[in-house]
Amino acid sequence: MQDQFPHHDRIRLPALHERITTAAAAAALIQDGMTVGMSGFTKSGDAKEVPLAMAERARQRPFKITLMTGASLGNDVDKLLTEAGVLARRLPFQADPVLRAAINRGEVMYVDQHLSETVEMLRTRQLGPIDIAIVEAIAITETGAIIPSTSIGNSASFAILADKVIVEINLNQSLELEGLHDIFIPKHRPQREPMPLITPSDRVGTTAIHIPPEKIVAIVITEKNDSSSTILPPDADTDAIAAHLVDFFKEEVRIGRLTNQLLPLQAGIGTIANAVMTGFINSPFAGLTMYSEVLQDSTFDLFDAGKLDFASGSSITLSADKGKQVFGELARYKERLVLRPQEVSNHPEIIRRLGIIAINTALEADIYGNVNSTHTLGTHVMNGIGGSGDFARNAYLAVFATKSLAKGGRISSIVPMVSHVDHNEHDVDILVTEIGLADLRGLAPRERARVIIDYCVAEPYRQLLRDYVAEAGERGGHTPHVLEKALSWHTRYRDTGTMLPPPVTLAATT
Ligand code: COA
Repeated sequence: MQDQFPHHDRIRLPALHERITTAAAAAALIQDGMTVGMSGFTKSGDAKEVPLAMAERARQRPFKITLMTGASLGNDVDKLLTEAGVLARRLPFQADPVLRAAINRGEVMYVDQHLSETVEMLRTRQLGPIDIAIVEAIAITETGAIIPSTSIGNSASFAILADKVIVEINLNQSLELEGLHDIFIPKHRPQREPMPLITPSDRVGTTAIHIPPEKIVAIVITEKNDSSSTILPPDADTDAIAAHLVDFFKEEVRIGRLTNQLLPLQAGIGTIANAVMTGFINSPFAGLTMYSEVLQDSTFDLFDAGKLDFASGSSITLSADKGKQVFGELARYKERLVLRPQEVSNHPEIIRRLGIIAINTALEADIYGNVNSTHTLGTHVMNGIGGSGDFARNAYLAVFATKSLAKGGRISSIVPMVSHVDHNEHDVDILVTEIGLADLRGLAPRERARVIIDYCVAEPYRQLLRDYVAEAGERGGHTPHVLEKALSWHTRYRDTGTMLPPPVTLAATT
């Protein structure tokens, strides 16, 4: 049995056995001009063999595609596809330095989207159609349903909407992942019903992606691992940010606006968001839940500290050591975890219903609370908006965290006017840096400017912003600005390498 039908525990529908093929043969199905929907969300559960074979083929015979994924990819897939010239258009998120540079050179058309929206747009044919889906799975069931691996992202809808599906069976992804997923696909409008999810732990869908098995045109076997996350450990600044937030939530509990369980937490990607969540370990809060997008190391640290009861996400993305530990003993966590399609994990209806506390990271914020999470100096994209907009716009509390300084103090993260807006002042409730926390709820723009400058800004920038606000205030307006100076900090950095005007220096004031 085993020899006749290798991987029978992974490909349980015998009729599909004949579809096992090489990555090169599967990649040959992808033609110039196609739109490809590929699994992968923040380096987890991405297709690992076929994209590399595509890059290899493109080096011999160039072709270009539109590539959609859940979010960012690991295993250098975006890098290799960029270098091979395969990517004409990329959406809805990326975080790869080589692709980022190609996007910023204008060579790859990048559509930076709210992560909940991509499949809605595909479903309604505002985007697409998807010609072919490539999905990593731990197994295919007896009925031909695909069991995803460490992420779901957009994989379910890609497989449902595509004409053809290539499945990568990853033998290195634990079969213990089976049962973790909850795949719910909303009905088309106008038959759409309320999404029946009332608590973060509710299960409302299926544990596998159900498609007609004849759509599976190729199966490729891989043993490549997910890439590990590269987040840095907490430092003094992120510890201070976490401490300010813990103090803020303690006060909210004290005055009776929240209980000690808080409300379901969402934490964004990256070092700062992970460190902030880690900070909850040393807090009085308990019985916490997460309704988030990416489950990072901090989720499992909070489980182990007995602080977290349940976590819902769309992917699990861990550092190398944490990954070894968690996937080595997944059974221990499984009852307290669920993975959902990103349109469910990030669904505005659910985020508003559950009353999410959303904690995301800003690259920069301005004195009125507008937040830029995506662009440096107004023009060059970093990663993308990801799910931060889905959450911030609909959250009970939208928190944005950032260190007050970047690039050794040559950049102030709080500026007169952000050089690009992802989250506008109407969506930002709390701004927190290592200096302190600004509670912006119920404040008018002039009041917002005062608390942001008082609580979030490091000297010498604090005094410079006070001078700016004083000058702007004299000109009048509901949201006063000195328009000809509003972006002068950015142009000064571009021209001189620091936002500080001469003769002000960091050393002189610290
Ligand atoms: N101007 C220019 N560069 C800045 C900057 C500013 N105001 N503030 C920070 N940076 C630079 C840092 O110096 C660092 O550069 P480096 O890579 O050369 O060292 C880089 O931006 C990343 O900053 P870091 O402080 O390490 O933050 P992070 O790892 O926590 O990531 C974001 C921060 C904003 C890039 C990241 O959270 C992100 O992409 N967010 C958008 C998507 C999102 O929020 N998703 C959440 C939904 S799950």
